[in-house]
Amino acid sequence: MTADYPALAAAIASLTAGETDAIALMATVVCEVHHSDSRFDWTGFYRVVEPELLKIGPYQGGHGCLVIPFSRGVCGAAARTGKVQRVANVESFAGHIACATSTRSEIVLPVHDGKGELIAVFDIDSDRPDAFTEADSDGLSAILASVFSRL
Ligand code: SME
Repeated sequence: MTADYPALAAAIASLTAGETDAIALMATVVCEVHHSDSRFDWTGFYRVVEPELLKIGPYQGGHGCLVIPFSRGVCGAAARTGKVQRVANVESFAGHIACATSTRSEIVLPVHDGKGELIAVFDIDSDRPDAFTEADSDGLSAILASVFSRL
């Protein structure tokens, strides 16, 4: 099963209509995205809780690291640069944080509010190598922008 991004975006828009609580929105996005695609083995948010520090937020999958500084890992790189990180092989990414040894590839997207502030990163990990494409980056970026620009 591969994500149908237009359908996923429509489902999330409908489920979250009128909602402005960040955690309620994140929990709903995580649930819908995680179950939309069999490549997605861990799906979750790391929220910016203080300068240069991410803490785990709503997620699905096995437990993840609770705290990630901006200086570390793929999540930290997304937070630092404000750019989508698509890592085909986590073993070749210097500083990758291995929360699950089964993870082979991942995508991490920055999440901005309506003022353009970074509020979180959205991390999807796959047990398959090179699981993520440009279509995932585009589809997920569009969903995140439409949901979180209302904050
Ligand atoms: N792989 C991430 C860490 C988060 S967990 O895998 C859930 C990283 O290197 O940023």
